[in-house]
Amino acid sequence: MMRETQHHRNMRPMAVDLSPAPGEKRILLEHLGVQGIRRISVYESKGGYNALKKILEKKLSPDQVIEAVKGSGIRGRGGAGFPTGLKWNFVPKDQSKPHYLLCNADESEPGTFKDRVILEHLPHMMIEGMIIGAYAVQAKKSYVYIRGEYTYATKIVEEAIKEAYRAGYLGKNILGSGFDHDMFVHRGAGAYICGEETGLISSLEGKKGWPKLKPPFPAVEGYLKCPTVVNNVETLAAVPWIINNGDKAYSGIGTEKSTGTKLWSVSGDVVRQGVFEVECGASFQTLLEDCCRGMKDGRKLKAVIPGGSSAPILTAAEAMDMTLDYESIASKGSMLGSGGMIILDETRDLVQVLKNLSEFYHDESCGQCTPCREGTGWLMKILHSFTEKQARPIDLELLKTTSNNMIGRTICVLADSIAMPVLSYIEKFPEEFDRYLSESSGQSSLSEKLQAKELL
Ligand SMILES: Cc1cc2nc3c(=O)[nH]c(=O)nc-3n(C[C@H](O)[C@H](O)[C@H](O)COP(=O)(O)O)c2cc1C
Ligand code: SF4
Repeated sequence: MMRETQHHRNMRPMAVDLSPAPGEKRILLEHLGVQGIRRISVYESKGGYNALKKILEKKLSPDQVIEAVKGSGIRGRGGAGFPTGLKWNFVPKDQSKPHYLLCNADESEPGTFKDRVILEHLPHMMIEGMIIGAYAVQAKKSYVYIRGEYTYATKIVEEAIKEAYRAGYLGKNILGSGFDHDMFVHRGAGAYICGEETGLISSLEGKKGWPKLKPPFPAVEGYLKCPTVVNNVETLAAVPWIINNGDKAYSGIGTEKSTGTKLWSVSGDVVRQGVFEVECGASFQTLLEDCCRGMKDGRKLKAVIPGGSSAPILTAAEAMDMTLDYESIASKGSMLGSGGMIILDETRDLVQVLKNLSEFYHDESCGQCTPCREGTGWLMKILHSFTEKQARPIDLELLKTTSNNMIGRTICVLADSIAMPVLSYIEKFPEEFDRYLSESSGQSSLSEKLQAKELL
């Protein structure tokens, strides 16, 4: 549900640091501090639309563009980390059906607010990346599916698209190349599940935003059953830089398997929260100490949620030992995800944190799959029994069995997005649950009822 208070808050631009913080490597955000950069004339004065001109004027083929994106090694920045060039290559070459490109600007994962900076400040970089992506997969139409609460960002993007039409970068026969492309904005209505790519497609088709089983993958059968590429805002915004500077320049940044830079939105108990662009493979300390100026009020780090609320939690020691790339974070048992990092200090009650998250996921479950519809509700109720000090030791087991019965058994991964965190919180921070158990009355009506029904 769209929340009114948030809706009003998002009518204003997000506060953002225009100059880079120590530790940042800005390539996407290089011109963030330039006055008026959201206007097309200023964007062009900084080299904007040169990548599109290079492709169309030098008559690079769609396959050459795909090869460049493949060569850069860039992986999708929306959460799953799938290689972008490979995704574009999956789109059939024949044009028996129209092709579409969808830019996923639904950004609703708790802790994630990095796309908003691009949408509000650098919309032309995303639009240019979208036109190049559309050319690569020969899509004549594209849509920006934007989070409903992002009222201000929507206005900025709509205005930027109008400017791009006036400048001849959109519409018929773009820059005399014979390539036609139209771009539209579609506002979501406040459902997190519409960020999942097949849910997004259903929503755009005018249906309920229900995810669909894959395969078929959208690249083959997506919007209106036609070949469709769905990419995140940040992924598409990186494409002009790759074309301008070359795939090798991009793959030369970062690590072998996690190339380029990543935008991190950092919230929680740090001195300076915000969005920071950091080279992949940089140390966690770069982000925490240099960009965010360390822990707030000199408190100790307790835990880190590295990649948005769906990412399993890490202990302080694990976080201190990780680098900011897909492989290192996975080796600690979590994921880079969307880059929505939440820093939690020693005063945080992790059972309360998890209970809040379980409410969110239960609220946002679309209800199609029984393990998700029912499981998210059970997790929430059991976690409530902890915070209300009514839990019994067996409730810890119940949390685990419920989670294990959700993982991998549903149409999309929303169910896993709470089940995996639950398991990680219990595994990494058992003492937090034990403290509640020792203070509990042991009168859990919930587990008694389940035992009576022999469900436990
Ligand atoms: C429940 C759920 C919510 C998601 N929300 C978003 C979102 O808001 N933005 C986004 O880009 N990807 C989101 N994703 C991931 C998309 O399904 C998809 O992988 C992504 O848009 C692909 O773009 P990329 O390859 O550029 O990362 C979500 C996935 C799930 C399961
Ligand atoms: S896992 Fe949950 S959100 Fe995803 S399709 Fe199933 S019920 Fe809907």
